[in-house]
Amino acid sequence: MSADEWEALPDDPFELLVAWLPHNDDPARPLMTVATLDDSGAPDARSLLLSEWDREGFYWHTDERSRKVAQVRSRPEVALCIPLLGVPSAGVSHQLVVAGRAEVAPVQEQQRAYAARPPYLQQLAWQNTPEFAALPQHERIRQWEEFAREHPGGLTAPDSWIGFRVRPARLVFWFGGPLTASRRMEYVREGDGWVRRILAG
Ligand SMILES: Cc1cc2nc3c(=O)[nH]c(=O)nc-3n(C[C@H](O)[C@H](O)[C@H](O)COP(=O)(O)O)c2cc1C
Repeated sequence: MSADEWEALPDDPFELLVAWLPHNDDPARPLMTVATLDDSGAPDARSLLLSEWDREGFYWHTDERSRKVAQVRSRPEVALCIPLLGVPSAGVSHQLVVAGRAEVAPVQEQQRAYAARPPYLQQLAWQNTPEFAALPQHERIRQWEEFAREHPGGLTAPDSWIGFRVRPARLVFWFGGPLTASRRMEYVREGDGWVRRILAG
C-alpha cells in the first residue's frame, strides 16, 4: 500500500471490511479466534467460522449448550481475531481484530446461516453432544451414517442452534508486507462515528 493509499483510508471502517472480507455468499468462510471471559474473569478462546458480517457486526453460530454461550450470556464482552493471510508469493497479509459485545442474532439470520452450512456441519449441529462424543468410535460412525440415511432430504436447524452478533466497539486492521514494517489502523467507536489512529504493527 502506498503512502497516498494509506492516507486515503476511509473514515468508515465498513469500507475496509468490504475490501478485506469475503462476501457472505462465498462458501469459504474465514476462520477466527473468538475470545471470551469465564465467570472468574479468566480468558477462554476457540476457533469459529465467521458465518456472516454486515454493518451491524460479525456473526458466529454454535450450540446453545456450549461453554462459550454460557460465558457470553454472563459476560458479553468478546474479542475476535481474524487472520487474512495472503498468497505467500504476494507477500501481503492482513489481520482484523474486533472487540465488542455479543448479542443473540436475529432468528432469521440464524436460520439463514444454518441453511448456508455444508451438509456435514448441518448434521454436526444435531449430533454434537457430550453423549455422542463419549461413544466408541465405531458406534459414532454407525450412528452418523444412520442419521444421514434417515434424513436424505436435508435438515433444518435443531433447537440447540444459536447465533451471536458481535457489535464492534473497536476494530484494528493490520497491514503486513515484506517491503517495510507492518502497521495497524485502529477505529474506536465514538457516538455515531469512529475515531481512527495509526498504531505500530
Ligand atoms: C476450523 C474449525 C472451525 C470451527 N467452527 C466452529 C463453529 O463455527 N461453531 C462452533 O460452535 N464450533 C466450531 N469449531 C469448534 C470450536 O473450536 C470449539 O471446539 C467448540 O465450539 C466448543 O467450544 P467451547 O467449549 O469453548 O464452547 C470449529 C473448530 C475448528 C477447528
